[in-house]
Amino acid sequence: MKRKLVILGAQWGDEGKGKIVDLLSESYDMVIRYQGGSNAGHTVIYKGKKVILHLLPTGILHPHVTGLITQGMVVDLEVLDRELENLKKLGVEWKGRVFISDRAHLVMPYHKVLDRLFERRGGIGTTLRGIGPAYMFKFGRKGIRIADLEDKERLKDLLEENFYFVKSLAEGVFGETLTVNLEETLSSLLRIYEKYRYMVRDVSRILWETDRSMIFEGAQGTMLDVDMGTYPFVTSSNSSALGLANGTGLSPKFFSDAYFVGVAKAYTTRVGGGPFPTELKGEEGERLRDLGGEFGSTTGRPRRCGWLDLVVLKHAVRVNQLDGLIITKLDVLDSFEEIKVCVGYECEGERIEHFPASITTLERCRPVYETLKGWLRNTKGIRNMKDLPPEAKDYIKLIEDFTGVPVVMLSTGPEREEYLWLRPELRPS
Ligand code: IMP
Repeated sequence: MKRKLVILGAQWGDEGKGKIVDLLSESYDMVIRYQGGSNAGHTVIYKGKKVILHLLPTGILHPHVTGLITQGMVVDLEVLDRELENLKKLGVEWKGRVFISDRAHLVMPYHKVLDRLFERRGGIGTTLRGIGPAYMFKFGRKGIRIADLEDKERLKDLLEENFYFVKSLAEGVFGETLTVNLEETLSSLLRIYEKYRYMVRDVSRILWETDRSMIFEGAQGTMLDVDMGTYPFVTSSNSSALGLANGTGLSPKFFSDAYFVGVAKAYTTRVGGGPFPTELKGEEGERLRDLGGEFGSTTGRPRRCGWLDLVVLKHAVRVNQLDGLIITKLDVLDSFEEIKVCVGYECEGERIEHFPASITTLERCRPVYETLKGWLRNTKGIRNMKDLPPEAKDYIKLIEDFTGVPVVMLSTGPEREEYLWLRPELRPS
């Protein structure tokens, strides 16, 4: 039986999944990214240097790991090229260890133009990486897939058709001249493709046929899922467990024996617009941002910060059917005398504990808080249960009681070795 571990964001992304995937990759053979694209920014400390991976699976920094980019992703070849070249400079030898699905769709320069234009009118604060438009073209059956790069004539026709569509939209609707050059786009695409052509495979079949162990690395988070998140303030893929089957080209049955773990910060952050019931707009929010270094790893934007929202975590536990939670950045709360945790919403006189679908309802929701005593002790880097302050244990217990799943691990700092298994018996083997 192949061992399978699924690692998902349980909030609005940026939960610290990169470090967890990197850490757990030590005992897995394959790491698979199955949705999203270069909107992700998974940060890992590698040989003392901060490395941010946008497209490649994080586990690739381990020399024994094979990294797969599946059909559910939208791939910007220029970003892929930069990322692979950068790894080479860092001394990471990836040749023969990275494979890309022939069914994956491409992010084209005109998708980035459209992303910017859409953002100009009623935008939601995207990463401007062309992700939404690339998925629009995919589902509108106008996308270009890696497999299409093999047929130059067909590719040229597809490119031309898309190019003139975007051009007329840009000029007619947005009054902007399209600056993308068709010939340059085509030649740059083919030049990069030639470099990495040997990596292209039917990745879905690789997964089906192998006996090797695998980690599925979710990007973004459950609350950014296009179906189960705060629509329309979401990304354009299923960034929860819902994306696993369509993202890999495998039946949901394939994942029935997998261990599903959700990663959540000890507080909450989000980048971009959209509802965020526990957001702290004043000094406390700034304090969390400063202490947590909360600036986007893809765009550098300051992240919005707030208290831990257990309604959100419970939603993530249900949607992903999580077996356990990993809590990161607990140490950011070390200096708070009191810590608030949202245990419900007050909505038009009614108390609710589920996450509503309607944006209008959400806007009317006020968080109901439970206040806990802070531990006022340093937890950074601790590796033993006995060093965990009793107040921090109470905090973890509240999370477990409310969500109904165990907190299996704590990440206590950015370095690989800064973690603690709270439930070693539940450690995915
Ligand atoms: P897009 O994915 O670039 O289309 O952006 C859609 C929304 O998802 C925006 O609010 C982004 O800030 C957010 N988003 C996309 N990728 C990430 C991520 O990796 N971490 C956190 N937020 C993200």
